[in-house]
Amino acid sequence: MENTEKLLEVAKEAAYEAGEIQLSFMGKNKQIEYKANKFDLVTEADKQSENKILSIISTYFPEHNILGEETGCHDEHGSDYLWVIDPLDGTTNFTHNFPHFAVSIGLMRKNEIILGVVYDPCKNELFWAAEGAGAYLNSEPIKTSQAKSLDEGLLATGFPPSKLDKLEENFVYFKKFIHQAQAIRRPGAAALDLCYVACGRLDGFWELSLSPWDVTAGTCIIREAGGKVTNFDSEKFDPYIRNILATNTLLHEPMKEILHSCKNEIT
Ligand code: IPD
Ligand code: CA
Ligand code: CA
Repeated sequence: MENTEKLLEVAKEAAYEAGEIQLSFMGKNKQIEYKANKFDLVTEADKQSENKILSIISTYFPEHNILGEETGCHDEHGSDYLWVIDPLDGTTNFTHNFPHFAVSIGLMRKNEIILGVVYDPCKNELFWAAEGAGAYLNSEPIKTSQAKSLDEGLLATGFPPSKLDKLEENFVYFKKFIHQAQAIRRPGAAALDLCYVACGRLDGFWELSLSPWDVTAGTCIIREAGGKVTNFDSEKFDPYIRNILATNTLLHEPMKEILHSCKNEIT
């Protein structure tokens, strides 16, 4: 088994280096390209960040597998370890110089999430955790909030503009939650939404159509901070199932009930 300290050290180094690349593009031409459609952006900073992270991880752990949003699966080694990387989460924010985006680096071992590092370079906030070792924001331990009822809760979600059926589905949930929660935000970087639940800035988060690289790191950080992460219909979280409910634990059942209560309205 790999040493947890070493895994964390490498993940943090990769996150800081990628964050530096992103800051170097702020206020400059981002060289935007479009992937599947006009809502799906990629920039030179996404690509350079992913290359930098891959090169750091594979220097220290040449046998490990890696799944990166921009370069796909590098799994020729058949290792128990899989790094799951979103080099720049919140690309649309980034392209507008809206200072809310992050590097997200998660690690799975034998299909279990064991480590997460999420770095917001604009605020110099590094969220990190490893299974059994607690969760931290920079050097301070973090915990989820104590909100016990939805009317005390600040919730967040995101909308997938290119997936029309999921967009409509989320409007149904949003409409239900807005009448029950204290307020709802749509910040635009799912990895940070998860970290904000972990440190108590948010009390709950749900979203559809996310990918493993959006959620792996944040899931470890929330769990270690005392929160809970599941899919809408499961108790065990599978990052390949494309919906997520993440809470301070206390709001998990109330939020799940609301999601389930919308079933009849979703076609
Ligand atoms: C996106 C962000 C956003 C979420 C989108 C994601 P990207 O990731 O996490 O908050 O709503 O669904 O795709 O494309 O900026 O890495
Ligand atoms: Ca993302
Ligand atoms: Ca991304």
